Amino acid sequence: MVSARVVTGELMSALKRPEPRPTVLEIEAYVPGRSTTPHAARVFKLSSNETPLGPSPLAVRAYLAAAEHLAEYPDGSSTALRTAIGHAYGLDPGRIVCGAGSDELLNLLAHAFLGPGDEAIHTTHGFLVYRIATLSAGGRPVVASESNYTADVDAILRAVTKRTKIVFLANPNNPTGTYLPFDELKRLRGGLPAQVLLVLDAAYSEYVRSNDYEAGIELVATCDNVVMCRTFSKIYGLAALRLGWLYGPAQVVDAINRIRGPFNVSQPAIAAGVAAIDDVRHVEVAADHNVRWLPWLTEEIGKLGLKVTPSVANFVLIHFADTAGRTAADADAFLCAHGLILRRLEAYRLPGALRLSVGTEEANRRVVAALAGFVEQAG
Ligand SMILES: Cc1ncc(COP(=O)(O)O)c(C=O)c1O
Repeated sequence: MVSARVVTGELMSALKRPEPRPTVLEIEAYVPGRSTTPHAARVFKLSSNETPLGPSPLAVRAYLAAAEHLAEYPDGSSTALRTAIGHAYGLDPGRIVCGAGSDELLNLLAHAFLGPGDEAIHTTHGFLVYRIATLSAGGRPVVASESNYTADVDAILRAVTKRTKIVFLANPNNPTGTYLPFDELKRLRGGLPAQVLLVLDAAYSEYVRSNDYEAGIELVATCDNVVMCRTFSKIYGLAALRLGWLYGPAQVVDAINRIRGPFNVSQPAIAAGVAAIDDVRHVEVAADHNVRWLPWLTEEIGKLGLKVTPSVANFVLIHFADTAGRTAADADAFLCAHGLILRRLEAYRLPGALRLSVGTEEANRRVVAALAGFVEQAG
């Protein structure tokens, strides 16, 4: 006869299964900006802050040439790319780490510096990857409030506890497009305990034209607890290749090099990145395009009676009413029907807004015309 105890034991072991860390199950998986809509034959994807000008033709050529060597492992240290970045920005290549997008680097930073129960601060509408990286490392995300859709240094400093290990700050921030001037960054750094790592995510820095802005190079150069992350996905137009880099103090660089994958950046990405960095003119043209169209979009959309948060990046946050027929969801449906895909922002705690990336002249004009149609039909 089989005892009840044996049956229960078998049942228990059948129910057992490998379980991820509890914090992993708190993560809502990242949902990227949509790229298709069933409603229109011609689609303008303005939902992921990609450059409308594409990559440098030199980067494309370098990428294609790398196809001759696909059987070989890449240089695991991305030496040529670190050297090119160091040369372009006047930085020590030994203090640069390249990654498969800055997303990878943000995750590696969380994994290297957060233990179970450690806290990482980000702001209310901060980039979603900070929360995901923190939870996946077993840490606790702590939200610091913003003022007027802008990071608030005092709120961040108030959120610091003994358990704080990282402050993640996108500057400019995605999806708000707002930024902290250099003085405020210095005040933030100065108010943080020395053991807290300040991660400055400067994914959109190449677009900023404000005199009081500094991406982070100076702070990293002078402080032991500041890291700057950058990306090739935005102004360089290489999002598909997954390429980013960080510049940090020697001990941070050492930690990241210990835990990153040995070949975390592919050779085609390294080759394209080197060529992209060298094509200074291409970046200038992309920045000029933004200088022309960012204020135009802000102004024209504002003239329609919609509130636009002033942005220094390559996108704008558009706010909608919360009355039926005029909401962000209504606007999104209307725009999608016209082949215009913007970014819904519920996950960013901005259900009443849409984010619009600066597009080609044609796309920008179409968005303004479609929004005018939306406002008119909404009455
Ligand atoms: C603020 C911010 N940081 C980092 C990234 C990620 O960039 P990457 O493509 O290099 O992973 C993005 C992309 O949207 C971003 O908006």
